[in-house]
Amino acid sequence: MRLLVVGGSGFLGREVCRQAVRAGWSVVGTYHSGAIGVPGVAARRLDVTDRAAVRALVAEVRPDAVVGTPYRYGDWAVTADGAAHVGYAAAEAGVRLVHISSDALHAGRPEPYGDDEPPTPVFPYGAAKAAAETAVRALDPGAALVRTSLIVGEGSKQIQLCHDALAGRASLFTDELRCPVDVTDLAAAVLELVGTDYAGPLNVAGPDPVSRAELGLLVAAASGIDPASMKTSTGAAAGVLRPTDVRLDSSRAAGLLRTRLRGVRELLAG
Ligand SMILES: NC(=O)c1ccc[n+]([C@@H]2O[C@H](COP(=O)([O-])OP(=O)(O)OC[C@H]3O[C@@H](n4cnc5c(N)ncnc54)[C@H](OP(=O)(O)O)[C@@H]3O)[C@@H](O)[C@H]2O)c1
Repeated sequence: MRLLVVGGSGFLGREVCRQAVRAGWSVVGTYHSGAIGVPGVAARRLDVTDRAAVRALVAEVRPDAVVGTPYRYGDWAVTADGAAHVGYAAAEAGVRLVHISSDALHAGRPEPYGDDEPPTPVFPYGAAKAAAETAVRALDPGAALVRTSLIVGEGSKQIQLCHDALAGRASLFTDELRCPVDVTDLAAAVLELVGTDYAGPLNVAGPDPVSRAELGLLVAAASGIDPASMKTSTGAAAGVLRPTDVRLDSSRAAGLLRTRLRGVRELLAG
């Protein structure tokens, strides 16, 4: 299996690269301003906003499958147009595509979201991720669209935010609920999906919905930190326009995949 990981220098992309190398796959990973640093991965620089460059790389690498992870918060050209370019190039080459999407494309509500619900974005990042999905589906109807939530694990920026809040340097919202997933579980699920013909959106997140503040308390307990000085707030009070309650129902993925998607309470229990 020859795999091209677009965004191989990202948090998820690096773990996808690591696990694919471990599985004996031939792996090409792309970076833009960072570095991949995973032994066994052939690193190539790529700017996904350059459609011709994306097409040329896919044509040159001739992968059996592409995993598309890149995004940049607040940058439509990377998050939306870049995903479209990857979708176009994969469809043109006739290769399997697993595109990484997000729970951020939902508006938020108390009931969990099923896999096939249409996007209802309420802020620019969510709109860019929704546009990315729409473009990828139109260009490559066979692509899998992995809707995921806060990605946690060693080196996670979500966990770093919790440590920052515990040190009083940041604030965690009590009204923003998500279903965190471990980066190793997510990467394994993505690689399993590469080997299937699953098409369309699939929720791939953990089973435990928690607020960011609850996540902070779990991190404090796991790290032996006194949470007394943890700063909390609400999105509304902070004037942040983001969906509040977004729970992904990942039961379809749990039935489809061998990979067990562990909940954050289990992940941080030790
Ligand atoms: N992190 C989360 O909690 C979370 C939650 C839900 C969904 N997601 C989704 O999961 C995916 C992976 O997230 P992540 O946390 O692993 O992201 P990340 O660590 O921020 O990595 C982003 C990747 O995009 C690449 N990139 C940025 N601009 C680029 C450009 N112009 N051309 C090519 N590549 C470019 C970066 O390359 P360089 O670093 O080399 O510049 C990096 O490889 C994203 O699609 C995101 O929307 C993430």
